[in-house]
Amino acid sequence: MEFTLHDTPLLAYQGDGLAVGLFEGQTSLAGELAQLDDKLCGQLTEVIAEEGFKGKAASKVTLRTAPGWPIRKVILVGLGPVEKYTRDTARQAAANAARAAQSLKCKTLALSLPVATNPAVMLQAAVEGAGLALHTFDRFKSQSTSDEEGPSNGLQTVTLLGSASAPIVPAAQAIVSGTLLARELVSSPANYVTPECLATEAQTIARDFGLTCKILEREDCAALGMGAFLGVAQGSDMPPKFIHLTYTGSGEITRRLAIVGKGLTFDSGGLSIKSAKGMELMKFDMGGAAATLGAARALGELKPPGVQVHFIVAATENMPSGKAIHPGDILTASNGKTIEVDNTDAEGRLTLADSLVYAEGLGVDAIVDLATLTGACMVALGNDVAGLFSENAELTEAIQAAAQAAGEKVWPMPMDVPYFESMKSIVADMKNIGGQYGGAITAALFLKQFVAKTPWVHLDIAGPVWSDKQKGYINKGGTGFGVRTLVAWVLGT
Ligand code: BES
Ligand code: MN
Ligand code: ZN
Repeated sequence: MEFTLHDTPLLAYQGDGLAVGLFEGQTSLAGELAQLDDKLCGQLTEVIAEEGFKGKAASKVTLRTAPGWPIRKVILVGLGPVEKYTRDTARQAAANAARAAQSLKCKTLALSLPVATNPAVMLQAAVEGAGLALHTFDRFKSQSTSDEEGPSNGLQTVTLLGSASAPIVPAAQAIVSGTLLARELVSSPANYVTPECLATEAQTIARDFGLTCKILEREDCAALGMGAFLGVAQGSDMPPKFIHLTYTGSGEITRRLAIVGKGLTFDSGGLSIKSAKGMELMKFDMGGAAATLGAARALGELKPPGVQVHFIVAATENMPSGKAIHPGDILTASNGKTIEVDNTDAEGRLTLADSLVYAEGLGVDAIVDLATLTGACMVALGNDVAGLFSENAELTEAIQAAAQAAGEKVWPMPMDVPYFESMKSIVADMKNIGGQYGGAITAALFLKQFVAKTPWVHLDIAGPVWSDKQKGYINKGGTGFGVRTLVAWVLGT
């Protein structure tokens, strides 16, 4: 899909569809919309009354113009109350308009949304909303079952009315592309998205966008003492890959950051095997890695100056086999700490342990990790909200602000509780699981053992990584959660 900006007045636009946002209660038409209504002999007013359109968020009403008109369809999308209008409302409204245009068979759409005092930010959000809404995961459909929505029949051009300032669109499109890469990786199954596939993807990003990429093989990881990561990997027939991508901006580097993603391309549980029901979803256990690579792609395209970002993924499967770790095995992580593996299904924290030690070894100013770490976090926060764990107030605020801007929900969870007691081991420095309750917190407290002093935020994205429903610009399947928050954090927007 292509996006353009134009300062064309509403009435001068010629194309298949015209979508206009209306605030709740703003249903008596004014200005250009009133003029359009006049030209349509009052049909807009009529359809608004007829369908009881109140401008509520996510609502819409559509209208067919007369044959021969310069526009075929008019779409009014609700924006909700004016005082609650944010950039995420603009994202949702653009998604709503784009979906409507698609189902009305429009190939071209003009979209007019209020831009308040900040057109750059609002228009960027609109591009994101429309671009994300219209993505469908059809990689494995043989003869495009989604033909109707396929690229040739679907919406091709979206023109944002009301501005002509240029740099917004490429920036938003880079963010959309990064998010869609993450969605594709998460939705694709484990026989395609293997550790090797993730490594190749990282190398492709490096090549296409000028990053550097280092892939550590099993022996390289062994030389660094990554016993925890390699312990998880030893049950799989697929070779593990430790991915380290580096983006270096132009000019003097004043910020050095690390993003770490959990990269379990399949989590069967290992010998502590999961039950069959729902196990197929464990292809999404590389959602943190997908967000990390998606952010790398977006930032590689956006090229922010003055910042260096390291993207780190310890990629492997967690499988039962004759070579797999046994419950009770003791592993030694790369910081020398020993771990008694009570449950081989608590594997993400083992791979992250060595990833975090590696990230801190790079001497960065801050580390953010994203991981589909615990079912317990879903119990606590549900499907839409990621748990945020940190002891650093400044970094917490920065990530909360970035998530807010991105329209992704994160919620702070406590770490200042003595639950680590439950992870004490008789035989090693710690066990890899705690007691029955507070599983998301004990997992975070485990990770903390592998970050000595660098400001660090852990995001448990087990809930939002995947969606069973279509909601706003989110589609069924992998959501690409995290990419937009990470990009906003690095850009400081
Ligand atoms: N990848 C899972 C966490 C998960 C489970 C994410 C369900 C999304 C949906 C993780 O590796 C895991 O298995 N965690 C265990 C930890 C337990 C053994 C302490 C869990 O949450 O049950
Ligand atoms: Mn597991
Ligand atoms: Zn897992």
